[in-house]
Amino acid sequence: MASASALQFNVEAECSTTKARTGLMKLPHYNVRTPVFMPVGTQGTMKGLLPEQLEDLDCEIILGNTYHLGNRPGINVLQKAGGLHNFMGWKRALLTDSGGFQMVSLLKLAEITEEGVKFRSPYDNSEIMLTPEKSIEIQNSIGADIIMQLDDVVRTTFQDYDRIKEATERTSRWLDRCLKAHKRPFDQSIFPIVQGLLNKDLRIQSATEHMTKQVNGFAIGGLSGGEAKDDFWPIVTLGTDLLHRDKPRYLMGVGVAIDLVICVALGVDMFDCVFPTRTARFGCALVTRGQLNLKQKQYETDLNPIDKDCNCSTCKTYTRAYLHCVVSVETVACHLISVHNISFQMHLMKTMRDNIKNGTFPQYVKTFMKEVYNDGK
Ligand code: GUN
Ligand code: ZN
Repeated sequence: MASASALQFNVEAECSTTKARTGLMKLPHYNVRTPVFMPVGTQGTMKGLLPEQLEDLDCEIILGNTYHLGNRPGINVLQKAGGLHNFMGWKRALLTDSGGFQMVSLLKLAEITEEGVKFRSPYDNSEIMLTPEKSIEIQNSIGADIIMQLDDVVRTTFQDYDRIKEATERTSRWLDRCLKAHKRPFDQSIFPIVQGLLNKDLRIQSATEHMTKQVNGFAIGGLSGGEAKDDFWPIVTLGTDLLHRDKPRYLMGVGVAIDLVICVALGVDMFDCVFPTRTARFGCALVTRGQLNLKQKQYETDLNPIDKDCNCSTCKTYTRAYLHCVVSVETVACHLISVHNISFQMHLMKTMRDNIKNGTFPQYVKTFMKEVYNDGK
């Protein structure tokens, strides 16, 4: 049973042309303004950034990964520390993913059975079975505001209908097991995950089954694998058409600017992606038109900031030439570019929220597309 004290969602303004909306999601640790982008911190830390720096960047909610945290520090330490918030010194909202997706995407050896996801530990090579009950037990000890059901994920490029159908239906069965195992419904909300890959009937079946449950929000999964945009957009549209208007909708694993703008227009409220911080570690800085690879020789003598209109501490202090120079010192570049990239994502989401509130979202989308495709001309 979902508890209203664990999550309250109020839509404050809706675009009259698109399905975009902006609102406030009240969570036990923080009130989060939507649409929101959630940066991903894997091991109880955001690579290159401290919790207080994330706060300074106006980040209101971050994402952690169940499997990694369940392994290290582990359930006992997490419980002793009073949960991950205390353990890592993060005071605002937190969401944890259930762990199966990471295993399937990271480890090619994961094997999925009705019981759960079986894989070899990357730490000590032992065999591990992540069941829906185990995932929820770990997530209960982490104590995030929003927790995800364990889902059966198949690769986006996968075409076998029977396997996709099995995964979709198993995800519904695992949802029941997760809801039953959940010990903290009063302060943690479980989100079901709509699966079904690119098959519309299976997506409808999945969403319809999930919507019979008493939950505070829903996720759309299975869409972060580089599928063609012509396949991706109709499935997101179908998801936001079906799912309740008064509950938050979370599109998992999506975080490239143009996808964020289009999917906000399609009615998505929450996003997460490793992309901004991962690409920073490779020396790439985000700009509206795409990204600058600061390792390239053309930046060696470029004394401009990454983006002259950006207010982040990196852009206020450092030039592209400086960043080019230190990019091989991984920790420094990782930090400075991560600050800019998270700032870029937060600014993009705030601009969208403001435009939805002001009734100018359609004009904003036009301006954004012009800048991306015509380089502002
Ligand atoms: N992250 C990106 N896509 C998915 C998904 O389909 N399931 C889960 N659990 N996490 C994801
Ligand atoms: Zn910047």
